[in-house]
Amino acid sequence: GRKWTKVSQLDQELKGQAVLVRGRVHAVRSKGKMAFLVVRESGYTVQCLASVAENVISKQMLKFISVLNKESIVDVEGEVSVPPGEIAGTSQQVEIQIRKVYCVSKSLASLPLTLEDAARSELDFEKAEKGGKQYARVGQDTRLNNRVLDLRTPANQAIFRVQSHVSMFFREFLISEDFIELHTPKLMAGASEGGASVFTLDYKGQPACLAQSPQLHKQMGICADFGRVFEIGPVFRAENSFTHRHLCEFTGLDLEMEIKEHYFEVIDLLDKLFVYIFDGLNEKCKKELEAINQQYPFEPLKYHKETLRLTFDEGVQLLKEAGIIVDPMADFNTETEKKLGQLVKDKYDTDFYVLHRYPLTIRPFYTMPCADDPRYSNSFDVFIRGEEIISGAQRVHDVLLLTKRATECGIDVTSLSAYIDSFRYGVVPHGGLGVGLERVVMLFCALGNIRKTSLFPRDPQRLAP
Ligand code: 4AD
Repeated sequence: GRKWTKVSQLDQELKGQAVLVRGRVHAVRSKGKMAFLVVRESGYTVQCLASVAENVISKQMLKFISVLNKESIVDVEGEVSVPPGEIAGTSQQVEIQIRKVYCVSKSLASLPLTLEDAARSELDFEKAEKGGKQYARVGQDTRLNNRVLDLRTPANQAIFRVQSHVSMFFREFLISEDFIELHTPKLMAGASEGGASVFTLDYKGQPACLAQSPQLHKQMGICADFGRVFEIGPVFRAENSFTHRHLCEFTGLDLEMEIKEHYFEVIDLLDKLFVYIFDGLNEKCKKELEAINQQYPFEPLKYHKETLRLTFDEGVQLLKEAGIIVDPMADFNTETEKKLGQLVKDKYDTDFYVLHRYPLTIRPFYTMPCADDPRYSNSFDVFIRGEEIISGAQRVHDVLLLTKRATECGIDVTSLSAYIDSFRYGVVPHGGLGVGLERVVMLFCALGNIRKTSLFPRDPQRLAP
């Protein structure tokens, strides 16, 4: 095959060399005997020049180039040149002197060529956005309705590369810590996280649910002696509220592990895991984070090498000192969580911290009560910029206590019999956690809306595209 160069690789070192690139027609403009073609690949752009004057290309070729529809896929053959000044509006600071252009796939609908048209048609997301106030902002619904086009912008290309790195680092770190990756069923007989937010369906005449988490089966993996397990997979929640951080389907990063002595072992692990992920992003995704920052400016995440741990009670106290009185036995709401995040940042200089030892009554039935005070539990949540990304805990591993807790929480034990029965033959003490992938990316980059980090978001009002 021939040698292909990526647009992102085009730099001054290639000056004078013949190259072959494939990309989309980002913009095209003709002027007398010249045509300017901007080619875009994965969010990177390069300017290509076609000139009849120097006899390099034919008149027909010039005509062909100047009528190409935007977004068509083209192969460009040419020579790399370095213009004297800076090139405005493209990511690459070199040009290609065109020898030949082939159209590989035509974009049938011509996207608007001017900013005004872009704003009017609302389909050229990048340009309409760069035009700022002068051109109407493109609404989120328009973007999501045309998500495939929307995803082509540099910031969106970068967001999903960052997301891919988060799951890669999650997997990489856990495998190095002797975890095994499992795939638990998403079709279940009963709800795994309680009644309200469950999608129900008909399973060949039998009532069934979509998994609200891999919780029950990942624990059954521990019952089956896998020791340390993790999963990256879809999670379904029939959320009723339409918020900036809830989806009806998201990607769960889950893990479950044996505990030898204390539930802090799970927090110790998540501490190392997340520092590994954040360090990895800052090191390996510099270009992507820069591209996101250009579109959606954000402050880099502040985190410590050893993550701050506060008890739930300490959180209540911090709020109290700031004049906010909350019920010490009830869960925080979104607003108090945000406020607490700010107080923690002011006092400890971190955007990332663990809150643990939650009141038992506000945690799921499978959560282990504290040995020294059963009003509390061996559980924790983790926050980025004052919003929850993780929840986790030590689990009840005693079958009698588990049955008692389920009953106390008003759960129909018969629908859980397969889960509860797995504990009858002994199981090691264990604990784990669940993370929302989209939330991690949203909060790491302070993007403000989870739809920006979901490829094709599913929310209470959206089931397409
Ligand atoms: O807090 P949740 O519901 O906890 C569980 O599912 C437990 N089984 C986890 C465990 O191992 N104990 O969900 C875990 C994480 C949340 O912290 C949040 O990041 C994300 O999943 N999450 C959502 N993300 C997007 N949309 C939603 N509707 C979400 N609900 C939870």
